[in-house]
Amino acid sequence: MSSNNIQIFDTTLRDGEQVPGCKLNTEQKVIIAKQLDQLGVDVIESGFPVSSPGDFKSVEEISKIVKNATVCGLTRAVENDIKVAAQALKKAKKARIHTGIGTSDSHILHKFKSNKEAIIKRAYEAVKYAKSFVEDVEFYAEDAGRTDNEYLARVCEAAIKAGATVLNIPDTTGYCLPSEYGAKIKYLKENVKGIEKAILSCHCHNDLGLATANSIEGVINGARQIECTINGIGERAGNTALEEVVMVLKQHPYLNLDTNINTQMLYGISQLVSDSMGIYTQPNKAIVGANAFAHSSGIHQDGVIKNRETYEIIDPKDVGVTESAIVLTARSGRAALAYRAKNVGYELTKLQLDEIYASFLTFADKKKEINDNDIHQIIETSNIYQ
Ligand code: KIV
Ligand code: ZN
Repeated sequence: MSSNNIQIFDTTLRDGEQVPGCKLNTEQKVIIAKQLDQLGVDVIESGFPVSSPGDFKSVEEISKIVKNATVCGLTRAVENDIKVAAQALKKAKKARIHTGIGTSDSHILHKFKSNKEAIIKRAYEAVKYAKSFVEDVEFYAEDAGRTDNEYLARVCEAAIKAGATVLNIPDTTGYCLPSEYGAKIKYLKENVKGIEKAILSCHCHNDLGLATANSIEGVINGARQIECTINGIGERAGNTALEEVVMVLKQHPYLNLDTNINTQMLYGISQLVSDSMGIYTQPNKAIVGANAFAHSSGIHQDGVIKNRETYEIIDPKDVGVTESAIVLTARSGRAALAYRAKNVGYELTKLQLDEIYASFLTFADKKKEINDNDIHQIIETSNIYQ
């Protein structure tokens, strides 16, 4: 693994599954985990074992079948959580315990009714205890986005001293600006004693629509893991979308940051997660939405038909989409109509195209979208072949 390799930590089955009203059973989780393993994610966070017998079982089953990725289970900084997670992960080829505690003033005062020193002690003890079960322990400082950097650095130092291999810096409430989040990672990289023994991880939520931008700023500033979910699903506005961060890094090679993801599987796995969870993906969703490679205005269609790169920065095949779509609407021009007519078997001359274009527009003004049957009807009821 090169130092410019960004580890992809998928939490679709844990943080992603926290979407209200969307529960997956063990069988569905196992199917998704197999696909994630093939996709090339480095870590699969498969659940929160102490939270329910069903979650325990899912983590246990996933641990048995995953071949390449590290299987991870979430815990609070609570001994029993950690012990139960270790049991659920027993069969994993590579196991990681992900433990942690809230570090912002708001969490310390309101959630734990505690104080800063006591939280550092709990962080240290949780990691130390997790280390007695597995070598690979990730520590999260919940609400790190709203935690002051100096204190956060002290918490991270304690976690490293106890043996943490990964330090997760979650922007739990999706509050940070990209510049702030990037500066936080840079500060930790420069100020945490012993930081060379661990990697920093970005875990960004999307409350302000900034999760992808924040994660990218994080890795530009030295983090080496991104925590994300397929389709960006998750509680509230969701998590960082896996497909987005992976494609940002791929499309900007000068950043010199790569991942192990087989991007051609992205569309298929997006569909699998959306179908299994019953969560519809918005059509304009970057990378995997139904319109991500669809062109409907005449100017864009003309450009794409001449050369795809005029209006597309990604080759759809790179993410598993067969081809770009030329959508016929009343905004489409002759080039798009000729292209779609050719696809259904009509090679039209310029004169023939001129003749049917007016009736095409009349038809299109009455419909949202012209389909292949409509094209047949427009052409067959015209007199261009008489
Ligand atoms: O958003 C968050 O802080 C989390 C932690 C539990 C890792 O999901
Ligand atoms: Zn989260």
